[in-house]
Amino acid sequence: MDTVKKYIATHKDRFINELIQLLKIPSISADTAYSQDVLNTADVIMKALTDAGCDNVELCETPGYPIVYGEKIIDPKLPTVLVYGHYDVQPADPIDLWDSPPFEPVIKNTDIHPEGAIFARGACDDKGQMYMHVKALEYMTSTGNLPCNVKFMIEGEEEVGSESLAWFVPRNVDKLANDVILISDTGMIANDIPSITTGLRGLSYVEVEVTGPNRDLHSGLYGGAVANPINILTKMISSLHDDDNHITIPGFYDNVEELSKEEREEMAKAPFSLKAYKDALAINDVYGERGYSTNERNSIRPTLDVNGIWGGYTGEGAKTVIPSKAYAKISMRLVPNQDWEDITELFKNHFESIAPNGVTVKVTPHHGGQGYVTPINNIAYQAASKAYEETFDVTPIPQRSGGSIPIVSLFEKELKSKTILMGFGLNSDAIHSPNEHFGVWNYLKGIETIPYFYKYFTELS
Ligand code: BES
Ligand code: MN
Ligand code: MN
Repeated sequence: MDTVKKYIATHKDRFINELIQLLKIPSISADTAYSQDVLNTADVIMKALTDAGCDNVELCETPGYPIVYGEKIIDPKLPTVLVYGHYDVQPADPIDLWDSPPFEPVIKNTDIHPEGAIFARGACDDKGQMYMHVKALEYMTSTGNLPCNVKFMIEGEEEVGSESLAWFVPRNVDKLANDVILISDTGMIANDIPSITTGLRGLSYVEVEVTGPNRDLHSGLYGGAVANPINILTKMISSLHDDDNHITIPGFYDNVEELSKEEREEMAKAPFSLKAYKDALAINDVYGERGYSTNERNSIRPTLDVNGIWGGYTGEGAKTVIPSKAYAKISMRLVPNQDWEDITELFKNHFESIAPNGVTVKVTPHHGGQGYVTPINNIAYQAASKAYEETFDVTPIPQRSGGSIPIVSLFEKELKSKTILMGFGLNSDAIHSPNEHFGVWNYLKGIETIPYFYKYFTELS
């Protein structure tokens, strides 16, 4: 299979160009102003799958955005890999902070990506990483190197909670039958320290509304005599953490799995520079739950964070006012065994119970999902590990991630299969942030590594 290197060398300009065309379409699932672009992107993926050698490519309608499906079944007796990815992207704002327009991709060199990186919304999350699989398939089908069956399922609502996919999967269990699910929608430690993601955190996302007086009031005439919803909301929010940065919601930690001393020691072996971490974020110190390291805080521990807070007057100059209402969006990242619906309920009950007289509180749950962990003593993990050894010349490190792909636990429940998370992005690629990018080297390395996963998974099956 040294032919994969040659194939990439011959076709790399086209591979890069095809991704650039895909990145030009603003497929923002959160904003209905872009719904035609989201639909157009699905059409482009359909064509790409067909060109890469997929059969039975179809647009599967759902209550929301369609799911693109395609397959190449070479022999029903051979194992089947189901590839999942998403063609939708995050909104681009704050747009002013981009150095070049988010949907006009450009290649620029950076310190971390001396061979260039493609700057565009979705470059890494997830168009670039998803498209690696399409190009890896093209290589395998056009050179006679596809060793097993493959199915593709690419959705358009991952960034808004995968509701339509959660509807689609239980209705298509036979169609989606597989031996392993393969996803590139996570990251790795560094280009010379590859890692395989063995865990994802769950999520509960809620919005809260605190209401005081029935209208905005003069802050002189009424100030001091009625509850100010912003004062109250911020006080309630700060009470959700204690001085050790533990979360104070009763029952919140009940099902949290405590890792053994050995497991924590193993985790601590992953290369990590606190100085580089702080420098990259321009912070003078890290902050978090007492008793846990930075890597533990952002992977094996649950969290509660305010994502946005608003109310009152925020325009130019000063306006003296006590607002009638204050709002916040709050996310809780969860670890395996914490049930996201239970946690949402615990939050709601607690938040309502701490509201003082003089205000009313409304808690509205948004989306959520379970966390996920995968053991490393199975053939799918071993196949992935061998694939990286082949192309990176080192054994990848298993690592739990702090991010969430809630649909992965649903796959396990409905399709009874494990997911392998082969991510080729870096934390510095700025996913969800301005100036998102994906290294050209990473893109091509992914295309090179994926066919080895198919080879070893088939051999070990
Ligand atoms: N690809 C990310 C998740 C991710 C990134 C996991 C890097 C691990 C490492 C995905 O597109 C995402 O952004 N997920 C959301 C959750 C979703 C329900 C909106 C997240 O983690 O905030
Ligand atoms: Mn993603
Ligand atoms: Mn994302």
